[in-house]
Amino acid sequence: MSASDRLIVALDVPTPDEAAELIARVGDNAGVWKIGLELLFAGGAELARRLSDQGQNVFVDAKLLDIPHTVERATANIAALGAAFLTVHGHDIKTMEAAIRGRGSSDLKLLAVTVLTSLDKSDLEQQGSAMTPAELVLHRAQLRREAGFDGVIASGHEAAAIREATGDDFLIVTPGIRPAGTDAGDQARVMTPARAIAAGADYLVVGRPITQAEDPGAAALSIVKEIEQALV
Ligand code: C5P
Repeated sequence: MSASDRLIVALDVPTPDEAAELIARVGDNAGVWKIGLELLFAGGAELARRLSDQGQNVFVDAKLLDIPHTVERATANIAALGAAFLTVHGHDIKTMEAAIRGRGSSDLKLLAVTVLTSLDKSDLEQQGSAMTPAELVLHRAQLRREAGFDGVIASGHEAAAIREATGDDFLIVTPGIRPAGTDAGDQARVMTPARAIAAGADYLVVGRPITQAEDPGAAALSIVKEIEQALV
């Protein structure tokens, strides 16, 4: 896998036209296009199908969490779009097993969302959990293993511990990436691209540092260079 294959750009823009413009500007400097909730409800599913038909890797960040029947059917529909990756909340094995049934024999890779990178310890307390983000991420990473998911979404701060606790045979996809000197925004557990790769992340998810850059192509390229250096 090349360094640019490891860069996932979050297409967090209001319309498919703006997403297409962003894709054109980033070009070969990224390997995967992530369509999240904002775009999914504004023509994003059709965009996912179109991009997949063109041979692009599409990540549908639907963060599914519902009763098993619904998760299974939704996953089957997302697999039928030709998507390469899908997120499902990894709170329990029942939900994850439903997604595995839903993807059937497709190539869709299933990623468990452990703890959103915007949440810190006080947010988890509010949700009724006494665990720290690091403890809850590890707990859920273990569930993902039991369920047979392909990987997890986790911040760079937890990547090394997950790798150590649950082995090498699965993907760690890391959002909350901020190149040195950029704004964290609403993210609580951020890390630079180089440090996240060094911590064991396989893929980096980057949104605003690229989408809000004056030159998204150059911003992506500089992250790819940082990934390259970290891999050496
Ligand atoms: O703009 P920014 O780089 O913060 O975007 C991060 C992207 O990763 C967003 O699309 C967000 O929904 C997604 N994400 C996240 N934390 C997770 C899972 C997904 O930030 N745990």
